[in-house]
Amino acid sequence: MIEFSRSQEHKAMFEGHFGFRETPFSVTPDPRFFFSHPLYLEGLAALVHGIESKTGFMLVTGEVGTGKTILLRKLMRHMDARVHFVFVSNSHLTSYGLTELMVQNLGLNNKEKTRLEMIQDLNSYLIHQLRTGRTVALLIDEAQKLSDEALEGLCDLSNLETDEEKLLQIVLVGQPELITKLNKSSLRRIKERIAIHHHLYSFQTTSEVDHYIRHRLQIVGYDGPEIFTKNGIEAIWHYSGGTPRLINILCDTALAMACVAARKKVSPYMLMRAAGGLLLEQGTEAAKIGALGSWITEDESSALDDQSKALGNKRYRNKIEPSA
Ligand SMILES: Nc1ncnc2c1ncn2[C@@H]1O[C@H](COP(=O)(O)OP(=O)(O)OP(=O)(O)O)[C@@H](O)[C@H]1O
Ligand SMILES: [Mg+2]
Repeated sequence: MIEFSRSQEHKAMFEGHFGFRETPFSVTPDPRFFFSHPLYLEGLAALVHGIESKTGFMLVTGEVGTGKTILLRKLMRHMDARVHFVFVSNSHLTSYGLTELMVQNLGLNNKEKTRLEMIQDLNSYLIHQLRTGRTVALLIDEAQKLSDEALEGLCDLSNLETDEEKLLQIVLVGQPELITKLNKSSLRRIKERIAIHHHLYSFQTTSEVDHYIRHRLQIVGYDGPEIFTKNGIEAIWHYSGGTPRLINILCDTALAMACVAARKKVSPYMLMRAAGGLLLEQGTEAAKIGALGSWITEDESSALDDQSKALGNKRYRNKIEPSA
């Protein structure tokens, strides 16, 4: 498959060929691209409610690439300035490091302080925030990678409370292993305190995938003729399993192929080739590729092969041949 370096090279190429303002299918969790599918909106509403009502612990889970980080980034943009977010995405933190990071982020002095002293300072700070109508929310992304010791330390932070409400809102976000972790007896204290749990699923239908793709194209200012055909969308759904990150990678690679082939449409064959590289990278059995054969005409296959040769781009061909 084509081995373009993504980002800048794609940007320039797509801008010229399709007229996009920027790359539509980057893998960065950029909240400007947030797709307001009910699944994400429900998650967003649940977190907003949890933070506003000072619930304490909240949990968001989802398989790899389903949109957990973009949901957090959207949440940070969405809530008003009275909520101060501390965003953590560092799996190597100890409970001391996590407390220190919080204290530093809030502008408190942490020099030569024990963890207990830092927690006491944090308590006074949070009470003051509460009196002035402000909330502090700690967002921990990739929480499945945190050590048990660091997770246990979160209980001390969550114990900071008044008679009525929790002083610190903690949102744990991670892949499903996080739940397995929280089932351990040493971490059950956290699990029992989780008041809100939202799970992100992949898109279940081709129509959802279609809307997602259209949405991203619209954000980059595309309003020209259809680029992805109905068969193409089915192919994307088939290969990505509806997971947004895989959809982005497939679309990005196939768009690059269309550019090289001077086409304004992405064909199922291009998607098959993009998926071939992706599946090989992921170690998934190549046999699945055969399922796409029915969406590809022989004409299309040989036309693209001819173009590929004409372009002299040997890397254009991937190792998997269509079964049509
Ligand atoms: N609701 C959405 N709207 C727009 N784009 C999305 C959405 N959900 C996911 N994506 C896109 O899919 C890709 C993966 O999203 P993200 O990084 O948030 O996934 P993740 O669940 O945090 O993955 P990981 O488990 O690897 O941390 C990103 O490019 C992101 O822009
Ligand atoms: Mg993430």
